[in-house]
Amino acid sequence: MSLAEHNLLVVDQDDDFVSAAKELFEGRLPVARSIEEASSTVESGELRMLLLGPSFSNDESMESIRTLHNQDPSLILMLVAESVTADLLRSAMRAGVSDVLEAPLNEPMIEAAIEQFSHDVLKRKSTVKDMAPTERESGQIITVTSAKGGSGKTVMATNVALLLNRLPDKKVVLVDADLQFGDVCLLLQIEPRFTMVNAAHELHHLDPEMLDSLLTEHPTGLRVLAAPLEPAFADDITTAGLMQMLDVLQETYDFVVVDTASMLDELILSLIEKADDVLMIVDMDLPSLKNAKLALETLRLLKFSTSNVKLVMNRSNAKNKLNNKEIEAALKMEIAAAVPSDASVPNSVNEGRPVVETDPKGKVAKGFESVASLVAGKIPEGTSKGGLFGRK
Ligand SMILES: Nc1ncnc2c1ncn2[C@@H]1O[C@H](COP(=O)(O)OP(=O)(O)OP(=O)(O)O)[C@@H](O)[C@H]1O
Ligand SMILES: [Mg+2]
Repeated sequence: MSLAEHNLLVVDQDDDFVSAAKELFEGRLPVARSIEEASSTVESGELRMLLLGPSFSNDESMESIRTLHNQDPSLILMLVAESVTADLLRSAMRAGVSDVLEAPLNEPMIEAAIEQFSHDVLKRKSTVKDMAPTERESGQIITVTSAKGGSGKTVMATNVALLLNRLPDKKVVLVDADLQFGDVCLLLQIEPRFTMVNAAHELHHLDPEMLDSLLTEHPTGLRVLAAPLEPAFADDITTAGLMQMLDVLQETYDFVVVDTASMLDELILSLIEKADDVLMIVDMDLPSLKNAKLALETLRLLKFSTSNVKLVMNRSNAKNKLNNKEIEAALKMEIAAAVPSDASVPNSVNEGRPVVETDPKGKVAKGFESVASLVAGKIPEGTSKGGLFGRK
């Protein structure tokens, strides 16, 4: 990859930094000595990325960096600093910086940063103002739960989120609220730079723009708020904190899909209470059914409304098939949708490529479509070629 293709401008007063950067990019780099100079170069419209040197890694410079960002929000701003502190990262991100890199620079580091942010460029043309969910006051929260581990929540959440994201003009974010063992990013084969732990540390400053900068983007455009990278970090996430993140996401996303862990604790109860729709995944075996029954009874005991709970059967064609009527009688609820069992699912998990992407016409994908339709119900059918969930 030629780094010069990225229309990069190096901005710094310091000769050492400028010459180090030039060496790295084989001398083919335009340079500006100040933010003001950079700003007039930006006006030429050719630039996509600015590499701001260590002269600007201080509080005083943030105001002018913000002005630069506002001048063209689609520009990718990367700041280099001698040391990257949490304070610097926070103020830089608030000023619109995409990433803060620690000096000294090296080529793999720059390439990784460019790789990470270059596909963001087109998306960033829109400003927060025109990011509001269409035709709704605030986004629809869809909590995916099950009362037994391994029932298929994460497979369901990822595939349904990808399908919703194909709806025209709908913005979708997938939140991995399995705080200890979240594996949404693994199933989507994306590597988060930031997680909800970063957001938890910024609760006092959290706004849509900042939270957006902490999301990880899947190649399809679906955004993900990643779970903590290590189980120990889960303690940093409080229920109130996560609720605040959802409030902020609701402001700018049409659908907020939340994957959860299999337990009935305070967090899950809050996620169920907050949801517009709850997809309760029940695997086709007796323990799953027993736990679903207990969970639903608990919700009823706690006087939670179960009217927004939708029962989704997973592995509905499994060999030990239970009778649908018996299931509905036991759970006092109708089955709303079903996804068959198929070897393509474990394969998709291992490859990190969800079934709705690899086999969009197959019976498993059709199952996921029936689930997505449950929550996308208010959207008129046939709004896109190839059915409701045709690719954008
Ligand atoms: N319809 C299906 N057909 C075949 N295999 C499936 C199906 N759904 C899920 N699986 C398999 O079951 C495994 C567990 O699925 P998944 O990780 O989505 O469950 P989970 O409820 O999120 O689990 P956890 O409680 O551990 O988070 C996956 O590895 C997947 O391969
Ligand atoms: Mg899971």
